[in-house]
Amino acid sequence: MAIFSERAIVLLFFLSSLIIHGSPKPDLFYSLCTENGNYEPNSTYQYNLNLLLTSLSSNAATLNGRKFHNQTAGQAPDMVYGLYLCRGDVTDAVCQNCVQTASQEILTKCPNRKEVISWYDQCMFRYSNRSIFSIMEERPSVTGSNELEMEDPDRFDQIVNETMVGMIEKATYNSSERDMFETGEAKFNASTKIYGLAQCTPDLSGSDCRRCLENIFSRIPNCCYGKQGARILGPSCNFRYEVYPFYGDFAAAAPLAPSPLSPPGNNTASESKQYWLIRFSTFFEASPS
Ligand SMILES: *[C@@H]1O[C@H](CO)[C@@H](O)[C@H](O)[C@H]1NC(C)=O
Ligand SMILES: *[C@@H]1O[C@H](CO)[C@@H](O)[C@H](O)[C@H]1NC(C)=O
Ligand SMILES: *[C@@H]1O[C@H](CO)[C@@H](O)[C@H](O)[C@H]1NC(C)=O
Ligand SMILES: *[C@@H]1O[C@H](CO)[C@@H](O)[C@H](O)[C@H]1NC(C)=O
Ligand SMILES: *[C@@H]1O[C@H](CO)[C@@H](O)[C@H](O)[C@H]1NC(C)=O
Ligand SMILES: *[C@@H]1O[C@H](CO)[C@@H](O)[C@H](O)[C@H]1NC(C)=O
Ligand SMILES: *[C@@H]1O[C@H](CO)[C@@H](O)[C@H](O)[C@H]1NC(C)=O
Repeated sequence: MAIFSERAIVLLFFLSSLIIHGSPKPDLFYSLCTENGNYEPNSTYQYNLNLLLTSLSSNAATLNGRKFHNQTAGQAPDMVYGLYLCRGDVTDAVCQNCVQTASQEILTKCPNRKEVISWYDQCMFRYSNRSIFSIMEERPSVTGSNELEMEDPDRFDQIVNETMVGMIEKATYNSSERDMFETGEAKFNASTKIYGLAQCTPDLSGSDCRRCLENIFSRIPNCCYGKQGARILGPSCNFRYEVYPFYGDFAAAAPLAPSPLSPPGNNTASESKQYWLIRFSTFFEASPS
């Protein structure tokens, strides 16, 4: 009996280490503390926010393949609105892990803020004191570009452009069916492929999703001409391309992604990442940076 339990304990250790390694901590790309005021410690708003975070986090524990959820807590004027969106290809376990991590980290990234948005590689997590459901918003947004240059940038951007246009078409064509998530790849040369991903929150209409993706994508020539990788992350839609596979079955086998530089201000990225240049724009900015 004693031997059996020792074995059981060793087995448990082994299993738990498998579980820990099987679900690595999601990678925070950026947390944006928006300029929508602060709440007081111990206020009703804080109480409601804590309820909301717990509720979203426990909702994510029973996903059944869903990638999106919205939820409110409390009553006006202290009502808190929250939502999460997992990347369309991740498993329930990865989504759940990302949402749970985000719901814990969001309080430490932007303490006492009434509105925060965090983008991870695997999910987006967001809360606010105003309704944020079914509204197409392009800001605040974060743009990250991998500063390594491609050879033949004109042709490279042309291929990225064609790939993106095709993905936007597919993501918004029959949105109820397609969940507003699309990936695509294209050959650049004999040894290099371009991998792309586009996603909207599925509470948007197909036409809003298209408008959102087209608008954020139109910033590419300004931010990311000829760059080997780029992401534009907004509240309602996002896209990313890389010259290595980073989604689906590839994700596990992908090389460690080049990591973003520490961004300016008090907005935080998980670690200082080589090669990446990050810019962000807020509500009050008139035009794309
Ligand atoms: C959210 O909070 C800000 C700052 O306190 C306030 O100006 C704004 O009116 C609030 N919005 C809503 C919908 O309550
Ligand atoms: C908030 O409540 C906790 C526990 O009731 C208390 O220890 C703390 O001092 C309070 N903080 C403020 C700023 O009122
Ligand atoms: C989520 O948003 C939709 C659209 O606004 C709304 O109908 C639904 O009630 C919301 N869900 C929750 C839990 O608030
Ligand atoms: C393909 O393009 C990449 C990126 O510019 C370059 O590093 C690689 O050498 C190219 N391969 C071929 C076969 O031209
Ligand atoms: C869109 O998806 C719905 C639901 O699956 C399906 O009934 C409909 O035929 C599709 N429409 C087109 C144009 O493919
Ligand atoms: C993509 O190509 C189309 C057609 O050539 C062009 O009008 C558009 O500006 C390009 N978009 C980007 C973001 O480069
Ligand atoms: C960062 O936060 C500190 C302390 O809250 C503040 O003094 C500083 O001005 C902030 N920096 C920026 C760039 O917002």
